[in-house]
Formats: sequence, structure tokens, C-alpha cells
Amino acid sequence: MSIIANDNNIFVLETKNTHYVLGIDGAGYNHHIHWGKKCNPLDYEINDNGDENSNNTKLDEYRQELTPFGQTMYRDCDIKAEFEDGCREINLRFDGYEISQDTLKIKFSDEFYPLEIILNYQVYDGCDIIKRFTTIKNTGKAKIRFEKISCAQFSLPSVKPYTFRNTNGAWGSEFVETQNTLEGGCAVYESRRGSSNHNNSPYFIAYQNADEKSGNVYFASLAYSGNFKISCSRDSYSITRVIMGLSDFDFSHTLNGGESLDTPCVYCGLANGFGDMTRQMNTFALKYILPSNFSDKTLPVLYNSWEATGFSVNAKQQIKLAKIAADIGVELFVMDDGWFGQRKDDHAGLGDWYVNEEKFPNGLDELINEVNRLGMDFGIWVEPEMVNPDSDLFRNHPDWAYHYPHRKACELRNQLVLNMTREDVQEYIFNTLDELLTNHNIKYIKWDMNRPFSETGAQNLQDPKMYSYLHTMAVYSIVDKLRQKHPDVAFESCASGGGRCDLGALSHYDQAWTSDNTDGIDRITIQKGYSLLRPTKTMRAWVTDIAGINKPCSLDFRFAVAMQGSLGVGSNLEKYGEEELEICRRNIALYKTIRDNVQFGDLYRLLDADKDEVSMNQYVSPDKSKSVAFIVAPGTKFYKKRIPIRFDGLKEDKTYKVTSQDINCEKSGAFLMNVGIPAHIRGAYYNRIILIEEI
Ligand code: GLA
Repeated sequence: MSIIANDNNIFVLETKNTHYVLGIDGAGYNHHIHWGKKCNPLDYEINDNGDENSNNTKLDEYRQELTPFGQTMYRDCDIKAEFEDGCREINLRFDGYEISQDTLKIKFSDEFYPLEIILNYQVYDGCDIIKRFTTIKNTGKAKIRFEKISCAQFSLPSVKPYTFRNTNGAWGSEFVETQNTLEGGCAVYESRRGSSNHNNSPYFIAYQNADEKSGNVYFASLAYSGNFKISCSRDSYSITRVIMGLSDFDFSHTLNGGESLDTPCVYCGLANGFGDMTRQMNTFALKYILPSNFSDKTLPVLYNSWEATGFSVNAKQQIKLAKIAADIGVELFVMDDGWFGQRKDDHAGLGDWYVNEEKFPNGLDELINEVNRLGMDFGIWVEPEMVNPDSDLFRNHPDWAYHYPHRKACELRNQLVLNMTREDVQEYIFNTLDELLTNHNIKYIKWDMNRPFSETGAQNLQDPKMYSYLHTMAVYSIVDKLRQKHPDVAFESCASGGGRCDLGALSHYDQAWTSDNTDGIDRITIQKGYSLLRPTKTMRAWVTDIAGINKPCSLDFRFAVAMQGSLGVGSNLEKYGEEELEICRRNIALYKTIRDNVQFGDLYRLLDADKDEVSMNQYVSPDKSKSVAFIVAPGTKFYKKRIPIRFDGLKEDKTYKVTSQDINCEKSGAFLMNVGIPAHIRGAYYNRIILIEEI
């Protein structure tokens, strides 16, 4: 991989299969030139032909990497600022560039005001992913106030409309996909709620004629868990642009003299089909994004007591559950909400992170020691960013929650959001969690965040409207500090289910809770949406009893769905009879033999339940010698479906042994991928796990 700069200030970022090309013209304007197949680097040039009339300006037509607010550019901009004398125009000149191995910095400064802007790029060996972010610096003395800060801008090559794939979910229905073909105007994907993910996802995926296996797919994912905005537009000149950055809905940021800001990163790439996109991002995230303590470690099978016990946890009943959990093969026992303060239900206790003595008269260690004795690690739930008004913390520090003095702060789930931009709040949270981890043998923190922000008065800040960015950075930094001090503790990011599992969160947390909806059938859709641009291993997936209410799919079916991520169990094990426990034992034992394949393998989405009635996902080990495929069908119409199961990702010239309940054969990779094995998928809740191993 390399970065080539020529004498005309044209920069070619070379990835495994692509060139990403930009350039600076004689007047200092930056231009996006190309993103696609590799060409002769000497052929690239800036195209500035065309004309202008009284209404259509040339500047407005430029494809750019960075568009500052001002001049005759009326389209969406990346950076908008106000200087102390009231000037709101930014006029940039090119100040040069720096290349060091795989990184490129392109430097600009304002012609008059002390503002520097740097575009940062990084390329990586063996893949087509590029990292981008922007640096802004106030090199003078007077304040500069920013009204908009984006991280990266993209121009897509074709003049024909692109379709954008994103999600439009909610609590309990995260990652439900949408496709919008943008012929003109603007489509915005955003969050205004304080965390990143419940509704739209902080990424773009743009294509014209693509499917799982082929077609150009342009994608970029923003590694940021706060309020974001991805705005996609197609103008009257048929140019499709995307600007990705911090939300400007309720935003302002001041840089004092000498201060600078690096925006969150964007990871962008070009893939051949959606499958290739997922595999590229999965491999990349394992190597470069996930926290390194656990990125190459197999994640344990966990048990979480939330669905079984709700808030009424106590030592005796948790120990009972732990014994059964250990017996079915669980490796990590996680106690969820309810163990602290006066927490009987969701009305009280958040903020008081000390053990409830009524529930745990002998302290936490009685339970932890027993869990350890049973051979499992112990994990615990916390929701550090929140406070119940009915808590000692709030009684002692009512000013610690975001609020305005003359407005009543809306409660959601009877809780308020702590103002994490305050140093005293950060200190309190770090110290409390540090103490918890120091005093007990805890190996896992499930860090929850259960409500969106409102009444975000933060009078401690020079710019209260920067709360979302600063809050997010404070969360990241506390998690990082805790990790540094307790490197063997793993962290899960939860926000009422899958509300915070963007690549930013996943660079600080090892895994994420995908959704509180664990219904076996809904999960097929939720997990598919999750899988597009997030690593498989980070997707915690539990088998619970929720599936029994409206859609009574079998326990085996639920396991076949949940085993497609990092497996957990959340059922009320005390209610299970020997037959059900045996199903758990059998599936957990099987999962342990295939989980490396799932957690570190390449995902091929072969059939899609929402389109094909049947979901079939296959995970192939990086060396292609082992694979596992999961077939789950909520129900098939018209009695039956006879289909050839065609696999993918195998070596054509090698022979594989293929086994499942009703398959046992040896075939070449070529046969398995091109002819396939006949399956008779019939009726509701069909499920098979197929093992494929090179002989
Ligand atoms: C959220 C989480 C659940 C559980 C509860 C506890 O809803 O998503 O998994 O931890 O909080 O209150």
C-alpha cells in the first residue's frame, strides 16, 4: 500500500484494489478526483472546465474532500465557523502536505484568520479500507466558534442515482434496514439522542447494481457514539455527495487560542458486493479497531440473569442459577440490574453503586466466590451515566444531572442523565467503578445507558452545545482508564439494547448488546442489519424464553440463531426440565467447537429470511479449511422448499466433509459452491447447523 504525490499536488492513496485520488488546484481549492479501480497515477488531473453564469457557480460544482462554509458554495459544507469579529467566511489556502509511510496530511490555513485545517488519511496493507479524519486548530489568540464540524466528505463517481442502505430501527427493533434511492435533494441519517444507534446507523452504504456477491459498494462508517449526521445529497449537476460528522442540530464548539480538535474517524472502503464489504470491515475491525486486550481472544459463553430475574436478584437465587449455568457449559456468569443501592425496580438506586445489603447480606463475594468455584468468571451490570432522582447520589448532588435551573427535566424510565462533561462526575464514576473492580474478582462489565438525553443544560461548559461530543469522549476515556488499570476485564456496550454499537464504541468496548428483543425470528432481521458493518464477534446474542410468547420457535431454533454471534443464555434456567437443559448442554458444547469459526471467520450471507423465506449464513475460517453454516427458516409457504444449498468461500480444489443431522458427505469445494447439496426445507422453524471441514 502506498501514497503517491506528484508535482501537481495530486495525491493517490493506493489500497489493495483501489485508488482514492484527490488534488489541490493552483488557487488552493481541494478536489476529489477518483475512487475506484487503479489507473496510471500519472493520468490523474483536476478537471476544472465548464462555465459559470449569474446563478450557477463553478465552485458549487466542485467535488471536494473538504468544503468550508462561504463564497459561492451553496451546498452543504463541512466546517462552519464564526471568527471573533463576526466574519463567517472561511477562505482556505493550501499549506503543503506530509507523507509518512501510510499516512497523508494535507494542510490548509485561512488566508486571514488563524485557523488551520488538516485532512488526515491512512491506508492499510492488504485491504481497501482508508481511515480519514479532520484536524482543526486555532493558531491565534481570539476564540473561534464552530457551528458545524464534519469528519469527512465523499463524492461518488457515477452521475446516476445511488441507493443508500441504512437502518431505521428503534428499541426492540434495532438495525431494521431501509434502502433509499436518492434521485435529488437530500437524505439524512442521524442521531439527536445522545447515543449513536437505535434509529439510524452512523454510516453510509451506497450502490447502484450490487448484491451480496457483486457490484460496486461504497461505504464509510463513522467511529463515534454521540449525536451524528450523515447527509447524502444529489444535486442538479447529478453529483452524489456524502458528508459525515458531528450533528449540527444542537451544536457549537469554541476553540480558544492554541486549541485544536481531531474529529472522530471515518473508515471508508469500496467493495465488490455487500458480502465483501462485511468481510473487509470484519477483518479490519478485528485487527485495527477493537480494543487489543480481547480482539484476538475467543469470547466466552455467558449467562445473564436479566430475563430470568429482572430486578429481584439476591445471593441465594443467583447462586442457584449459577449452578445450573455452570452445568450446561456457561463460562461467564453476569448479574444484571438490581444488585445495588435501593434498586427494587426502575424507580430508585441508579447512581448508588454499592451493594444492596438486604439482597446480598454477605456482600458480593459470596456470589462471586461461588461462581468462581463453579469454574466461571463473574460479570456485573452498571449504568454509570445515569441517576434516579430517588438515589443518594442525586440527593447529594442534584446539580450533577443535565438540567436548566428554571425547567423541569423530563424523566424517562424514572432517570436523568448525568452531566459527564463535569470533572467531578467523571471522577466519581471512575472511582466507584475502579473500587468495584479492585475489591472484587469481576471480569466483565456490562455498561448500560438506558435513555436519550434531554434538557442538556451544561452550564459548566464554555460551549454547553458541545455536550454530546464531550460526554461521549468522557465515556470513552473512563472506559480506557479502567481498562488500563484492570486489563483483564472485558467491557460490553449496551444502550437499551443496541443503542451504542458504532465503531467508536467498539474501539473502547469489546462487544455490544444487540437488542433487548431476543425473539428468535425478529433476531434474524436484527442480526443481519448488525452484521453489515460491525464485526460478528462483538454481537452478543442470547437464547431466552421471550421467543415463547407470540412465535413459539424451538430452543434448538433459538440456539441456531444466537450461535451466529457471541453466544449467551438469558433463559430462566430454574424453569427448565432435564430435556431442555440437555438441549442447552448439547448446543453450548457444539458452539464451543465452532465459535472460532463464527467469531473470527468470514461471513457469507447466502439466503435472506426477509427475501427468500430462509436465512442461511456461512462462516469460513480465514484459511478456508473449516466452515459452519446455519439455516433457519421462520416458515415456508406452500408446504415445502427444495433448494440446493450452495456454499461459498471454500477452496475449489479441496475436498470437504459435510455433516449435519441429515447430511453426511464428502465433496469438492467446487461442487459445494457450484452444484450444492439438496435440502428439503419444510414448515415452520426448520433449523440446521452444517459443519464443513477440509479433509
Ligand atoms: C436495558 C438492557 C437490558 C437490561 C436492562 C436492565 O434495558 O438493554 O439488557 O440490562 O436495561 O435494567
